[in-house]
Amino acid sequence: MTTSEFRALIRDTVDLPTLPSVALEALELIDDPSAGMAEVARIIGQDPPLTTSVLRTANSSIYGLCQQVKTIEHASGVLGKKQIRNLVLEVSVMRGFCELETSPLFDPNRLWTHAILTGRTCHMMATRLTERVPEIADPDELYLIGLLHDIGRFAMMDHFGLRYLELLTEAWTSNRPAYLAEKEELRFTHADVGGAIAEAWGLPEEVAFAIEGHHSPRIRYRNQPTTLLLMLADQVSNRVMQQSAGYPDQVAPDPMLMSWLTLEPWEMGELALECLEQLTILNDTPESDGSIDAA
Ligand SMILES: [Fe+2]
Ligand SMILES: [Fe+2]
Repeated sequence: MTTSEFRALIRDTVDLPTLPSVALEALELIDDPSAGMAEVARIIGQDPPLTTSVLRTANSSIYGLCQQVKTIEHASGVLGKKQIRNLVLEVSVMRGFCELETSPLFDPNRLWTHAILTGRTCHMMATRLTERVPEIADPDELYLIGLLHDIGRFAMMDHFGLRYLELLTEAWTSNRPAYLAEKEELRFTHADVGGAIAEAWGLPEEVAFAIEGHHSPRIRYRNQPTTLLLMLADQVSNRVMQQSAGYPDQVAPDPMLMSWLTLEPWEMGELALECLEQLTILNDTPESDGSIDAA
């Protein structure tokens, strides 16, 4: 089965989440080289809650702006197209899944923290590697890839509900990763669903491709450093979250991934510390961007 046939099968099986029309229109304009940022700002401005959330996120620590941003025009001018696209998606995704119920094996807030933390870790790794590994996607693209890498889990919970919870429970009791249980029970994983969502939203193919690959055997992506980087950032972010929640004995990041990405152990140590700092910031500022309830 080809990738597009497989994505079509997923589209036919799962109700994929849709983006608000304003967000879709804004994304189209952002991709259109002939459209200016003023047009993008005008479209976003038609949705006051989206505008408020985008401004609040733009003023959070990740974007590192030294002056307060009060209008979308201002945000667009200082952040640029890719960061505005990421903001619109971040806010729209949070909004789309804010009503999912929490259970011991599916905690939307925790998953969302993991998503943002992985996005930030991808961004930090890509910034380090831009010159050393030129084939890697740029840091803003990698932030988006990290942010959306597990979006398929939200979509599966939203679509399958109790059936998905039972699947997670079965995986947990048999001590297996959730993606293996997903594959066995449904024939596709949350990574596959995430790739189909990225395609349905018109995101660049490299975003869909990396998301789809993040639980595949790493050797298959030996020559795809963007996917390898996502795999490693996912491991670092999971480990840091687990350790800070009081589970110290977590599996170390995969040395083969580190070596393929030319990352030395001391650099991984630094990245883990930076990741922990970001987690502390996220936990300290739940209103700005660390909570799915924020939108
Ligand atoms: Fe995943
Ligand atoms: Fe993940």
